[in-house]
Amino acid sequence: MKKIIILFSIILFVGCNSRKEQKVEITPKGNFYKQSEMAALMLLMYETNAQNKQLILDGKQPKEFPEEFLKIHTAQLTDSTDRTLEFKTFSDFYLRNMKEVFEPSKESLINKHNTAINSCITCHQTTCVGPIPKIKKLLIQ
Ligand code: HEC
Repeated sequence: MKKIIILFSIILFVGCNSRKEQKVEITPKGNFYKQSEMAALMLLMYETNAQNKQLILDGKQPKEFPEEFLKIHTAQLTDSTDRTLEFKTFSDFYLRNMKEVFEPSKESLINKHNTAINSCITCHQTTCVGPIPKIKKLLIQ
């Protein structure tokens, strides 16, 4: 249980900003971290891309574009005012680049992967700078 709490406090610091603090509730059972749908989706995107990175380093093509990723257009955000026209543009840009990673083509997989990760970062620079150092670790050098 202690481990879980430690993990959650790390997530808290990696999250966007102090808004996150409102998401923690102390209950008789201990700390609970209430995650927005978008934060949960982001963590899934992070995990998938960490796996993609490993696959690509092993010379393998990631298999199937996860359809859940399309939920970026609808998932509830911690701060609903983040969903602007700009956010939609960045989402489309990111999804387009992400899909490319799963499509066979002549272009190098490493380039396609890094382009997708850079489009995560592009959006984060405008909405949520906290996780950028973590996202940069997904880049293949
Ligand atoms: C269109 C904008 C946008 C794109 C593209 C985007 N993000 Fe995010 N990301 C956000 C926003 C906004 C949040 C805050 C979500 C919330 O709290 O509701 C977030 C949160 C996160 C978090 C923190 C989750 C937490 O623990 O609270 C991580 C990690 C993350 N994103 C990784 C990624 C990765 C990896 C990608 C690309 C595969 C990506 N993001 C693409 C906007 C974006």
